[in-house]
Amino acid sequence: MVVAKKWIYAKAFSGLPTAENFRLEEETIADVKDNEFLAEALFLSVDPYMRPYMLEFPVGSVMIGGQVAKVLESKHPKFPVGSYVHGSFGWRTHTVYNPDNETGWKAYVLPDFGKEPLSLGLGVLGMPGNTAYFGLLEICKPVAGETVVVSGAAGAVGSLVGQIAKIKGCQVVGIAGTDDKCKWLKSIGFDHQESYLEICAELKKAAPKGVDCYFDNVGGKITEIVRGQMNTFGRISVCGTISNYNSQPEKVVDPQRDYVWKQLKQEGFIVHRWHERQLEGIQQNLKWIQEGKLKYKETFTEGFANMPKAFIGMLTGENTGKAVVKV
Ligand SMILES: NC(=O)c1ccc[n+]([C@@H]2O[C@H](COP(=O)([O-])OP(=O)(O)OC[C@H]3O[C@@H](n4cnc5c(N)ncnc54)[C@H](OP(=O)(O)O)[C@@H]3O)[C@@H](O)[C@H]2O)c1
Repeated sequence: MVVAKKWIYAKAFSGLPTAENFRLEEETIADVKDNEFLAEALFLSVDPYMRPYMLEFPVGSVMIGGQVAKVLESKHPKFPVGSYVHGSFGWRTHTVYNPDNETGWKAYVLPDFGKEPLSLGLGVLGMPGNTAYFGLLEICKPVAGETVVVSGAAGAVGSLVGQIAKIKGCQVVGIAGTDDKCKWLKSIGFDHQESYLEICAELKKAAPKGVDCYFDNVGGKITEIVRGQMNTFGRISVCGTISNYNSQPEKVVDPQRDYVWKQLKQEGFIVHRWHERQLEGIQQNLKWIQEGKLKYKETFTEGFANMPKAFIGMLTGENTGKAVVKV
């Protein structure tokens, strides 16, 4: 008999989450039936989207989220015992799952990562990696010599966006919350790094020819400043708006005039749009890692009991690179 632990959404989010929003429960796991498998979580992801998306779920639901897990028992031919999988099983230690019934982000056996760790299936070799790869290349379509600015630059997605833009021959400016994060960005090849305090005055110096592409992870005032310095025919890839996930949106100047006068193109996206090309993104990012062109960082929190702590820490900027919980 397997007893799973699971984190319940105990109280609706309002403002920055606190320990009160979560409750740890246990559940006896049912026997594995035909076309099901039992998986044990090894690494769990904490991501910004969980904060706004959970508002769509009733209080009492299991917290949503992806995990890298090991298949312990299986009656499904595509998920053999011993294989490592990525699944959107939520914040749970053990899950019995029927992959043929799912509607959203499909469970899959992880491709071979070579010498790279399995936890990367939650970061550069998973959803955030594909967000950076497709969100930058398909929407901004950066051209060598152009200037690319990325906000949330030291996070899971942003740190990869800047490096992919460098691989494509662009000048890259990253905006991040602290000096230490900026130092790390410099060490992985960003041309310029600005913390929030400096960005307004410094962006003109960092991007003297103006901004051609903006990969926006945060929205609000930071976006207003970057948009003000964009060049004609600039492209903005709207990935996220974390500046307003825990609070009301910041008041900004109406952007319409910039869109018209500078003929800007802005497009939002959800990474699932490229689901059919998921392996392409993972394999390209893996190749760049193996060639030494793409660096990654993970910020680990130890223990399933610390899921809420890791989540709140990520929302308050404690992570550099991908925030991951190791069970
Ligand atoms: N569209 C999609 O399909 C998709 C997929 C994945 C992620 N996203 C979005 O991409 C963005 C980054 O996600 P991620 O997974 O890479 O997370 P992340 O950047 O690794 O972690 C979140 C970071 O956001 C920054 N932050 C927190 N509050 C902020 C605020 N008020 N203003 C500005 N920055 C703030 C913090 O860094 P600092 O210390 O630098 O402030 C924190 O470390 C999020 O907006 C997320 O929703 C979208």
